Amino acid sequence: MIVAVDGPSASGKSTVSRRAAQALGFIYVDSGALYRGVTWKCVKEGIDVTDSQAVTNLLIRMTMDLVLTDNAVGYVIDGEDPGQEIRAEPVRERVSDIAAQQSVRVYIVEKLRQMTQFGNLVMEGRDIGTVVFPESPYKYYLDADPEERARRRAVEIQQTEGTGDVDEVLSSLRRRDQKDSSRVTAPLQIALGAKIINSTGMTIDQVVDTIVSDLKKAGVVS
Ligand code: DC
Repeated sequence: MIVAVDGPSASGKSTVSRRAAQALGFIYVDSGALYRGVTWKCVKEGIDVTDSQAVTNLLIRMTMDLVLTDNAVGYVIDGEDPGQEIRAEPVRERVSDIAAQQSVRVYIVEKLRQMTQFGNLVMEGRDIGTVVFPESPYKYYLDADPEERARRRAVEIQQTEGTGDVDEVLSSLRRRDQKDSSRVTAPLQIALGAKIINSTGMTIDQVVDTIVSDLKKAGVVS
């Protein structure tokens, strides 16, 4: 069983999906982390993320091995775990360009589909319900107002980097939303049949409860 949770940046997908996975006894997958991993590798090797030929060549020569740890699927690239570096500014500012590349999408979608080998999944991203697992009956689209999302993301950045200006985060989020929704390949869209949850003004617990109760009603868990 696959529970697909899609939505824009900082809509609360990660926390909600991780907690829902725990409540359901499913495995959690952050698909954005794979796009960030490829971006991290490009930064490390000095590859221009808009150079599609160079990026495709990188995908051919690198390895990305999936690893199951603590009920979440992670990966190592050429044997290395990028850790928190995938959340830092160099990756953050380039990842939308990587996510817009056709060869990267084919590569990552294949990796995401392979993850069913680990068991039942709660997978969060932008195209899980539309492209990766469109046949799954369990789809959610999580949204929140841009200002609320910027506030949440700024708090996260302050915790990891010590600084984080809400206005700067808001303009960076808007840039990323625009790129993610307007790209030709697998743009961010609400999947057919997805339940839309606007989490503005809701607590994390309320959002998790909404999803878990809905899945219980659907008979996914007792
Ligand atoms: O969720 P996130 O902020 O970690 O995602 C990082 C980038 O990857 C963001 O630009 C959207 C993109 N992404 C995507 O295109 N498809 C996914 N399934 C997940 C993330």
